[in-house]
This record gives sequence, structure tokens and C-alpha cells, in this order.
Amino acid sequence: MARRALTFACQNCGAVTRRWQGKCESCGEWNTIAEEAPASASLPPSARPGRKGRPFPLQPLAGEANEAPRLPSGLAELDRVTGGGFVRGSVLLVGGDPGIGKSTLLIQAAAALASAGRRSVYISGEEAVAQVRLRAERLGLSRAPVELASETSVEDIVATLSEGGTPHLVVIDSIQTMWTDAVESAPGTVTQVRGAAQALIRFAKRSGAAIILVGHVTKDGQIAGPRVVEHMVDAVLSFEGDGAHQFRILRAVKNRFGPTDEIGVFEMTGLGLREVANPSEIFLSERDLGAPGTAVFAGIEGTRPLLVEMQALVAPSSLGTPRRAVVGWDPSRLSMVLAVLEAHCGVRLGGHDVYLNVAGGLRIQEPAADLAAAAALVSSLSGAPLPPDAVYFGEVSLSGAIRPVAQAQARLKEAAKLGFSQAITPEASRPDASGESGLRIRSPVTLASLVAEIAERGIRRKGLNTVT
Ligand code: TYD
Ligand code: MG
Repeated sequence: MARRALTFACQNCGAVTRRWQGKCESCGEWNTIAEEAPASASLPPSARPGRKGRPFPLQPLAGEANEAPRLPSGLAELDRVTGGGFVRGSVLLVGGDPGIGKSTLLIQAAAALASAGRRSVYISGEEAVAQVRLRAERLGLSRAPVELASETSVEDIVATLSEGGTPHLVVIDSIQTMWTDAVESAPGTVTQVRGAAQALIRFAKRSGAAIILVGHVTKDGQIAGPRVVEHMVDAVLSFEGDGAHQFRILRAVKNRFGPTDEIGVFEMTGLGLREVANPSEIFLSERDLGAPGTAVFAGIEGTRPLLVEMQALVAPSSLGTPRRAVVGWDPSRLSMVLAVLEAHCGVRLGGHDVYLNVAGGLRIQEPAADLAAAAALVSSLSGAPLPPDAVYFGEVSLSGAIRPVAQAQARLKEAAKLGFSQAITPEASRPDASGESGLRIRSPVTLASLVAEIAERGIRRKGLNTVT
């Protein structure tokens, strides 16, 4: 007799195997493999084999392309990340650590839309209606006409939303708590999460409502369980921040209708999330002026210039293999900058531990930060503080040359606005930048000349110290 074929799926990454295993071979997690219903059982009844297909009209490629109509949320930082507001009929996934403020952000967005006369519905699968009300009260939003429910059955939710006028915005908090009748697996499994997301996405496309799904994140920052969901939705936003700082950064990881390099900056206050319109001021607010090992980097996040402080500590090591630790920047870029310093600038770091930190909990991805990182490292090693009124940006090549980077003008303007008076940046950044920003621009040709200059400051400083 033929046995029913069992399948097993990893609850973390969704990989399917034929037998149970203690460790998932695809993502390396332990104890995440669970039995799942066979594939045919997870299809909706209408898609079972044997059903005759229904013909549907095909459309020409040419035709009126409805310009995606947007619903601005009223929170400028959120709209910046989505690319101008929520798109009708689209589904957006917001991921983030527990307690980072996802529910707070979304109740604020739902309330803002509702207050602007749009129908917005907030469905919580995690909290009771009273708890959501309590939070709204704390945020001073209880007057906003948001429609609330505490529900987890997707069929019930879709049936409820299909009645009356189509809502403009539906928030589902969270997708991991939803379950659908169409799938036999237990709630919370990958199959259930995928099935529930599918049903909600179908509803969004059919009705034109914009749906936001909240997704929990595992230790290593993946959206828990439904990596598959990331591929199904139109946009994925990640809400980041760490416990030590009140800043929260909203970043687009995927966006079918907008940019993926914009960030939105918020501050968690006693009255909910406050938008931070000028993040540079905040990221530079706790600068330790006059201490060696810090350099201000004039960066660009998306279309917006952002000044942050890069902090380095280079200290003699007692270990055979010295430590290299970096927070907020790419470790392989740090290795590269260290290698260039060793090979072309005569800086010996083999016996030193090296730590690099981007202040304020921000994560930088630009190669333009090379120059600021190098300056901070050399400043720490030589004990010479960098001029407090200088910003740094430029890419360091493996040959030790300093390469120009894009959008120099915007970086310089932001630096001038915040009271900086000089910029250290490659020659080619000058022509388009000079004059207007009012900054004094210095352009070392190679990293070696910058290193020499910083080291000389260190020697002069030490000399002064011994004289007095
Ligand atoms: P929450 O939105 O519930 O997080 P998530 O939905 O991502 O799990 O936010 C919870 C945290 O935010 C909690 O630690 C308290 C803090 N918080 C504030 O500091 N101020 C506020 O006004 C609110 C509502 C929450
Ligand atoms: Mg929550």
C-alpha cells in the first residue's frame, strides 16, 4: 500500500525536505523542521487538480498605465521610505525586532490617515482591543476614527473588510498570528503564514486596499519564518534601532514602487515616535570634541545628506591575533582600509586591536566612508585629534589613491549648514562644489599624504606637551 508522502519544512527559512532532521541544511538553524501537510492540501479547493480551467481575457501591453495612486500617510519620514505614500492594492511588510516600535508606528500611520478622512482598519492578532486603545490613548490618538479589531482568522477578516466601503489602509499586526482555513497546518507554521499572506494579498489586489503586514524578526535579522512572504509582497521595510538609543531607522529592503536606499529617522519618545527631519543634528549631538579617534563623515542616505561621527580605537594588543571589531560599517571595508594603511602609508597595525563604531546606532553602506574611517583610525593611533570643524568623505582605492564620490555638493552644503568650515575630500569633488558651500576644501592626493598630515599634528602636540 502506498504511504501518504509526508513533507517537512523549516519554520525559519521555508526549505522543504523529505524527512525530519535536527538541523536545517539550508539555513543552519536547529530544531526548526516540522511536518507540513502535503502540497496539494495547501492549495485552495479551486486550484485542486481535475478542475477545468476558466478562460480569462488577455490585455495588450500598450494601454493606459494607471499611475500608481498613492496615499500619503501624513508621516513625512514614512512617506519618504515608501516613495511618496502607500500604493493602492499593494502589500507592504514591516519587519523589526520585538519592542522596536512597529505597532506604535503603524497605529500612528493608521490614525493619521483616518484623521485625513480615509477609512483605515487596524487588526491586531497579538493584543486585545483594550490594549490597542490604551496605546492610542497614550499617543493622544484616541479621537482618530480608526476601526479596530482583535482577530486572527483570515477568512473572517476578508469577509469583514469586503463589506461596506473598501478600506484605504488595513494594518495586520502580525502576519505570524494569522491563520487560514485553506491550509491544514497548525497556526504559526510556514505553510500557514504563507497561506494567510496569500489570501490577504489576493484581497488587496482585488479590492485596491493598501495592506501593511507586520512581521517578526529572528535573532539574525531575518523576517521570522516567512522569508517566502518577502518575495510575495510589493515592499519590505525594516525597522531598526538598538536598545541603547532612542533613534529608530526605517529602511526599504525591497520596493516595487519606490526607492530602496531612502531611510526614515524617528525618535522613540514617551508620546510615541517623533519624526526627525534633520538627522545629522541628532547623530552629531553627542560629539566628544577634541578627543583623538573621531572623524565626521558627510554621507548620503538615499537623497538626503547625513553627517555622522565615526569613532575608532587603535590600542596595543595582547592577543596573538589582534581583534578587529566594527559596529555600523562593513567589516570587509575596514579590513581593506587597514590593508591600504599598512601597505601604502607605513602604518603598522599588526600588533594593535582595532575597533570602529558609527555613532548613534546608524549603519553605513557607502564606500565614501573610507576616508573618514582611515582618518579616525590614524588619529586614534597617533593620539592627534582631528580638527573639530572638518568633515571627511571619499573612497580609498587599493592603490592608496583617494577617489571622488557622488553628490559632493549636497554633502558640502549639509556640512556648511551644520557649522563645519572645512572638508577633506578628493580633488574631483571640487569643480562642482567650490564656491557655493563656503567650505574650505582640502584635497590630499593619496591616503599617505593625509596620514602624514595627521601624524605631524600628533608629533607637534606631543612636543608641546613635553615643553609645557
Ligand atoms: P511596540 O510598538 O509595541 O513594539 P513592537 O510592536 O515592534 O513590538 O513598542 C514597544 C516599545 O516602545 C515599548 O518598549 C515601549 C516603547 N514605547 C515608548 O517608549 N513610547 C510610547 O509612546 C510607546 C507607545 C511605546
Ligand atoms: Mg507589536
